[in-house]
Amino acid sequence: PGSVEFGARGEVTVAGVSLVEIAARFGTPSYVIDEADVRRRCREYKAALPGAEIAYAAKAFLCRAMASWMRAERMSIDVCSAGELAVARSVGFPAERIIFHGNAKTPRELTAAVNEGVGRIVVDNLAEISRLAALVPAGRRQKVLVRVIPDVGAGAHAALRTGGEDQQFGLSIATGAAGEAVARVLDQPSLELTGLHCHLGSQIRAPEPYETAVRVMVEQTARVRERHGVLLPELDLGGGHGIAYLPGEHGLDVAEFGRRIDRALRERCAARGLPVPRLIVEPGRAISGPAGVTLYRVISVKRGLTRTYVAVDGGMSDNPRHSLYGAPYEVRLVGRASNAGTRPVHVVGHHCEAGDVLAEDAPLPADVHPGDVIVMAATGAYHHSMASTYNLTGRPPVVAVGEGGARLVVRREGAEDLMRRDVGL
Ligand code: LLP
Repeated sequence: PGSVEFGARGEVTVAGVSLVEIAARFGTPSYVIDEADVRRRCREYKAALPGAEIAYAAKAFLCRAMASWMRAERMSIDVCSAGELAVARSVGFPAERIIFHGNAKTPRELTAAVNEGVGRIVVDNLAEISRLAALVPAGRRQKVLVRVIPDVGAGAHAALRTGGEDQQFGLSIATGAAGEAVARVLDQPSLELTGLHCHLGSQIRAPEPYETAVRVMVEQTARVRERHGVLLPELDLGGGHGIAYLPGEHGLDVAEFGRRIDRALRERCAARGLPVPRLIVEPGRAISGPAGVTLYRVISVKRGLTRTYVAVDGGMSDNPRHSLYGAPYEVRLVGRASNAGTRPVHVVGHHCEAGDVLAEDAPLPADVHPGDVIVMAATGAYHHSMASTYNLTGRPPVVAVGEGGARLVVRREGAEDLMRRDVGL
């Protein structure tokens, strides 16, 4: 899956650039991201959802190059921290196209969001409404969305399901909190309620849960009009669009999603006598995930009693997703052909725990040996952004491939970087 191409003699390329060359030039482990592929996905969304606002969810992957690509593609960005906001703003990303999220925004973050002039702040709890209202300078109004719990469960893993009642995001319709939040926002002269928001979960590959969410959200939008006489011009359906991780898998079909959501929205709004609100969607993984790969070098091959372990020079610090969610991955040998036949191995990292597994029962050539380079596909989302420095391992660089070949966009973290915050005795 993703933007890697495999040749007959073991050559593997991303956007025409050899991964062997990238490994030699930038070292391993390295994240590689295909700029054209990222940008193609932005355009695919715009074509599938004409008139909608497409807000890239920065939590999936953000660096300054990525923020610049999003600006060039005229995307919006969804941020959920002061750090993401700062990176987006550092490349001149327009504040009015930034949506600020968070279930526990700190006073510092709320202040930064208001001062930067972000387009929308998504209210996620009752306490932050008056806090936010008080921060807005006189003469200005801050646009706000209220995040509600649609009670639609979807997502690839319990940790990735955020649309149901039993989790910490959004305001419950059932308890009355969502209605209370709407009333309180409407009561604040410095806030302007532009719509409702929901986010069902992540790695959702079928459109049906979103159609259900449209029904719930249009109903809530209609109730706001009934209770307050206010027509909400926007509806934000969040992100969560799934991608393929393994060969033969498929992600959410964006064109089909666009058609079905458009139809559902029109039907539901007609039934409730509402004008169709402007749709906002927040795909993260579906924009950057398939466009990225990770390169590792094999350090050891250990034939254990029950299985073979192929240990590489990275691990759960650059990819915690298998250990967190049991996420599956495809790995392939890079740079040489092998006719040794494949056998399933566990690809493990170099961290000091047995949970440091990157891929289970991954088919690799039987003659895989130390020094080989392997590539893991579809690592452009929630890899760099979730990387840690566990065991004081520096985080890998990000190499962008595009028109002019390969270039470094985030450099490798070294011991100097790791010690920079450590003030010593
Ligand atoms: N909007 C909101 C409000 C979100 O919370 C998220 C993701 C998104 C949009 C984008 O979701 P996406 O389209 O990327 O699925 N660390 C997990 C994913 C957590 C997603 C959290 N929220 C993983 O590695 O799979």
